[in-house]
Amino acid sequence: MLFPEYRPRRLRQNEAFRRMIRETTLSVDDFILPLFAIDGKKVKNPIKSMTGHYQLSVDNLVKTAREAFNLGIPAVMLFGIPDNKDPLATSAYANDGIVQKATTALKKKIPDLVVITDVCLCQYTNHGHCGIVEGQIINNDATLDLLARTALSHAKAGADMVAPSDMMDGRVAEIRNILDENDFSNVPIMSYAAKYCSAYYGPFRHAADSAPKFGDRRTYQMDPANSLEAIREVTMDIEEGADIIMVKPALPYLDIIYRIREEIDLPIAAYNVSGEYAMVKAAEKMGWIDGKRVMMETLTSIKRAGADMILTYFAVDAAKELSSRSQFTVNG
Ligand code: PBG
Ligand code: ZN
Repeated sequence: MLFPEYRPRRLRQNEAFRRMIRETTLSVDDFILPLFAIDGKKVKNPIKSMTGHYQLSVDNLVKTAREAFNLGIPAVMLFGIPDNKDPLATSAYANDGIVQKATTALKKKIPDLVVITDVCLCQYTNHGHCGIVEGQIINNDATLDLLARTALSHAKAGADMVAPSDMMDGRVAEIRNILDENDFSNVPIMSYAAKYCSAYYGPFRHAADSAPKFGDRRTYQMDPANSLEAIREVTMDIEEGADIIMVKPALPYLDIIYRIREEIDLPIAAYNVSGEYAMVKAAEKMGWIDGKRVMMETLTSIKRAGADMILTYFAVDAAKELSSRSQFTVNG
């Protein structure tokens, strides 16, 4: 097909044609909204580096979740900011922990909203690491039981799905096991399978107060230079019982999403992380980019790469944008 017989511009000349040949479409069904739960009443602490996002006490969290649900967003991902931190992350698996309380309230008030809980220890440990620390080492196997207990306590509180983000080896099997033993065989696991050691998590760590107090997460999160290893991580998690696998971050790792889509037939989630969000918001605020268009283009690219669902701080804005775009009018 060569010019002048073939003219690609023929099918670009108006929006109707463009709509008809569009290969990738975003839908509100694709979005999962991350939310931050904190103790107290009527708390709504703005997160400075994440415009439009807040640490929310349960009452306000329910309000925000309801607004999202009413826009058609099917699911939220819950993160907790606990009152107490200790070396064993006890408030991560306490029955009255913040995520557990928020989950129960959400399921009571908005039963059809899917509540996914982030399973990790870093917000709950005083050293800020995702596992148990011995000296300078993060002990993998000693962490597994605590992660499993955390997932179980979330399921008991009513979580529809649990999402381990710790990157300890073997945690998916351990969590699947404890859930099955306790009559939660219907609770799926969304595994943060290919989670990279990324500087894009900066704003989140500030929001969740979860930055490591010493060292970094390089001994458990993946090296940004690797992609074959991502296949191994994903394959391993599937064998251990993961139902949905996640790639995180999204935008700097679109090649990983694409590659996994080619090789794996499970649903893929992509996490459009805090730093990706913050950069867009900052540039928009400076007047340097059209924030709304960059948002939609970014989300479309993640979907085009092969993601089935996107965890994104843009969920509410993008849902509003999609619904305003779908108001077509008939002329004449
Ligand atoms: C903690 C966790 C992190 C994120 C989700 N869960 C940060 C980290 O690993 O340090 C990042 C999310 C984001 O940046 O939006 N295990
Ligand atoms: Zn963690």
